[in-house]
Amino acid sequence: MKHFRKLLAAALGAIVLLPILSGCSAEDKRIIRIGHNQATDHPTNIALLAFEEFIESKLGHKYDVEVYPSELLGSQTDMVQLTQTGAIDFCVASNSILETFSRNYTIFNLPYLFSSSEAYHAAMDDPEVADPIFESTKQAGFEAVTWIDAGTRNFYTVDTPINSPADLKGLKIRVQQSPTNVTMMNLLGGSATPMGFGEVYTALQSKVIDGAENNELALTSNGHGDVCKFYSYDMHQMIPDILIGNCSFLDGLSEEERVIFEEGFKLVNTVEREEWGEAVEAAKDRAVNQQGVTFLYPDVQPFQDICTPMHQNLIDSNPDLAPIYERIQELNAEYASAEQ
Ligand code: GCU
Repeated sequence: MKHFRKLLAAALGAIVLLPILSGCSAEDKRIIRIGHNQATDHPTNIALLAFEEFIESKLGHKYDVEVYPSELLGSQTDMVQLTQTGAIDFCVASNSILETFSRNYTIFNLPYLFSSSEAYHAAMDDPEVADPIFESTKQAGFEAVTWIDAGTRNFYTVDTPINSPADLKGLKIRVQQSPTNVTMMNLLGGSATPMGFGEVYTALQSKVIDGAENNELALTSNGHGDVCKFYSYDMHQMIPDILIGNCSFLDGLSEEERVIFEEGFKLVNTVEREEWGEAVEAAKDRAVNQQGVTFLYPDVQPFQDICTPMHQNLIDSNPDLAPIYERIQELNAEYASAEQ
């Protein structure tokens, strides 16, 4: 029986891997594989399906786009590496993860970097801010082709309401695998526990961790609200997701094809942003009414005061990032009032 299972696993592996390695379907279309870690009802998946439809409507004779949700192709870190080598063509990675591939990405992981979501969106849309960062991994074999809104990250816990940084003391809080997030968590007094997104639900349920931090959709789409009953709006980060593509694939497109792909990348961004607001509202409604989650609105200032020195530390150790940081401050001033 054990032997049979092994054979079955090997056979299944071969079926999945063969077309991945050859990149061709039976009709000899070039298959484009895109991986991400969200569920099928998540705005990211909806936006990537719109991309699939768009590319196939324009170039369907040549390309067959396949979207793999829910970590089917591995964790985000695995998928970035697969995109780097060209085993797959695109994946969505949190900006946090990308910090370990290029230091430039660190800037978007800083806590309390943006003064409002309008300032955040304006910065991400500004080529002066985004281009030097998006292009910084070309030598590593991949580049960013667009950004995807992932809202605001906040703390949520199984049973401890977080009303001030002092409430985090002694709690094990899952963070994304990035040095910036570990530093932030430790500064705020909690014990940073880095792990991949797919492991968080079980870790919460088995009490390996006391809480995590994410946008509201993690409560519903990932079921974390079934276990965590307090969600606290300390608003510590607005971290975008990034759609990255393999450079050899992108460079191999003809000029006309590249124009169509660029249009497709913009579509991913706009469709996802259109879906995002409603998805957050629906998640909050479900979290309160079906999962029994309590939303808390603490004074943000004490959290912010503890984290702000991280900004200067980053600029001191990476002076190249100073002009980008300055530009973000201009946008912060311009859009500061939008949410006040
Ligand atoms: C959000 C984000 C994902 C990320 C996840 C995490 O859901 O959109 O890209 O993987 O947070 O906390 O790991």
